[in-house]
Amino acid sequence: MATREVLRMGDARLLRRAEEIRAFDTAELHALLADMRDTMHAMNGVGLAAPQIGVNLRLVIFEVAGNPRYPEAEAVPQTILINPVITPLKKEMEEDWEGCLSVPGMRGMVHRYTHIRYQGYDEKGDRIDRTVTDFHARVVQHECDHLDGILYPMRMRDLRKLGYTDVLFPGQDIGDD
Ligand code: NI
Repeated sequence: MATREVLRMGDARLLRRAEEIRAFDTAELHALLADMRDTMHAMNGVGLAAPQIGVNLRLVIFEVAGNPRYPEAEAVPQTILINPVITPLKKEMEEDWEGCLSVPGMRGMVHRYTHIRYQGYDEKGDRIDRTVTDFHARVVQHECDHLDGILYPMRMRDLRKLGYTDVLFPGQDIGDD
């Protein structure tokens, strides 16, 4: 287990379409997941996609529980999601601030679907099928975008709402990543 370097925006490896995982429950997959978990926790991230550490596979992890970067956020269960498919269940979208470990020190206002179903597999190859809303739905959409080479600024409709975290939220100790 080890923390890995998180690639930052500008690195072409963040812009690729990641490839499907075909072998589950392997030693390689478990080792990769351990590194991703360590890296996410070390950086206080709510989620991390494999391409962010330069591994071009369709794998994301996320977890929200008392995160100092998102103190107001609802809890989201610790999840490993492989080869995900997202289906919006309503046209309704909502805008809110997002950050990304690959875009350190910034926040941007991003529209996301409020109601989605997501399907995929866990690390053992067991099916995951959940219907979720709001912040949980936002996290999943953000992380899965990384698998298609999309960073949140590429989703923004108004780049005036992109800024440095300490300027946007002065005096709030949200963290500088
Ligand atoms: Ni991100």
